[in-house]
Amino acid sequence: MDDNAVGGATAVPHGLPMDRDAGPFDPPSRITRLREVRPVSPLIFPDGHEGWLVTGYDEVRRLMADTRFSSRQDIGVLHVPYEVPGMPAATEPSPQVPGLFISMDPPDHTRLRRMLTGAFTVKRMKQLEERITDLAERQLDEMARLTPPVDLVEEFALPVPSLVICELLGVPYEDRDDFQANSAKFMEKDVALDEKMAAFTGLTTYLAGLVTRKRAEPDEDLLSDLARHDELTVEELTGIAFLLLLAGHETTANMLSLGTFALLEHPEQLAALRADPDLLPGAVEELMRYLAVADIFYRYATEDIELGGETIPAGSTVVVSLLAANRDPRRFEDPDVLDVRRTARGHLGFGHGVHQCLGQQLARIEMRAGFGGLLRRFPTLALAVPADQVRLRTDMNIYGVHELPVTWTDTSE
Ligand code: HEM
Repeated sequence: MDDNAVGGATAVPHGLPMDRDAGPFDPPSRITRLREVRPVSPLIFPDGHEGWLVTGYDEVRRLMADTRFSSRQDIGVLHVPYEVPGMPAATEPSPQVPGLFISMDPPDHTRLRRMLTGAFTVKRMKQLEERITDLAERQLDEMARLTPPVDLVEEFALPVPSLVICELLGVPYEDRDDFQANSAKFMEKDVALDEKMAAFTGLTTYLAGLVTRKRAEPDEDLLSDLARHDELTVEELTGIAFLLLLAGHETTANMLSLGTFALLEHPEQLAALRADPDLLPGAVEELMRYLAVADIFYRYATEDIELGGETIPAGSTVVVSLLAANRDPRRFEDPDVLDVRRTARGHLGFGHGVHQCLGQQLARIEMRAGFGGLLRRFPTLALAVPADQVRLRTDMNIYGVHELPVTWTDTSE
């Protein structure tokens, strides 16, 4: 039996390594070492049962394209019995939560996702671009009125995606304090199951009321459009609303704040981007590759499956690290270097396969508007604390920073 305490490169890890010992933007060094020696590796969960950890680019991509790896076991789903927070101990597929299609397999997944693809096309998202840019600019106006230092997360990175997703879905933005507190609690790793459950119930009770009202009196928003589908139950509508609301703001908010932190820590990259705003779309892809804030996902092997020279037995819990895959030197040259000029296409930051991020065009537009506006409006933006004092979200399912204290000397354009 391998022993982690001894810590050889080939040791089977006990528990998922999460410590960002290699730096705030890099995967845990044990994950990197494992990818080098065994990109599909056994992993012992804290309750003692054996699962698998997949870290190589090709292997992660193949896994996510293969629906024999079921999504009916996911970190975000409450009904997985957690022996230790964040570690699913179940070795069978979980029952489904109505509407939560991120944790479903085809054909259930296909049926629900199909109802939404029309609303998230590149064309529909392009139509929203002006409005999103406007929301970002107004948020920057408000930030510019403040006396620095300010917390970029609170003043910019969180409000922009929250405003956007609220407007798109038709969720009153005034209700944000409640749903943000509940979604933050839900996404926290070390929270007792009953607390998570309370946050989940709080959010879904609120959303059930909202979708019921939309069904009775439809408006111009996405939830109203969905509510017009008679074949969707209120429970399904609630589940979909929950998924979109959560997926739509936690992720983008953390990309904006961690992305800003990363740029501030790479001044030559920041300068290149400021000098040539045409680099922005590519820089957004590169930040997605380099940071992959939605890093860890869970799958469940429905049969014995060969992957990367290993056989993953039926019934195994499989953990993938999108960040490790994005840093695989077999796919990207100098993968640990942040290079806004590189072609980062093919990164796995939005996942891959049938569950690939539905909101990715929206997220790209938000990030372009967000980073673009921020860099233009705050040419002297700087960290207000030493980098090692920035609190990292190693305790949350979506990685990023809890706060990003920033300062500037001049807000005039
Ligand atoms: C799925 C990342 C923004 C909605 C995913 C997945 C990833 C991801 C990795 C795949 C999950 C899996 O395979 O199990 C991100 C990142 C974002 C972002 C990094 C921001 C930078 C958004 C936005 C929305 C959204 C703005 C808008 C509503 C969704 C939905 C799914 C999903 C609904 C589930 C798709 C399915 O199961 O078919 N996202 N996402 N995401 N994302 Fe995003």
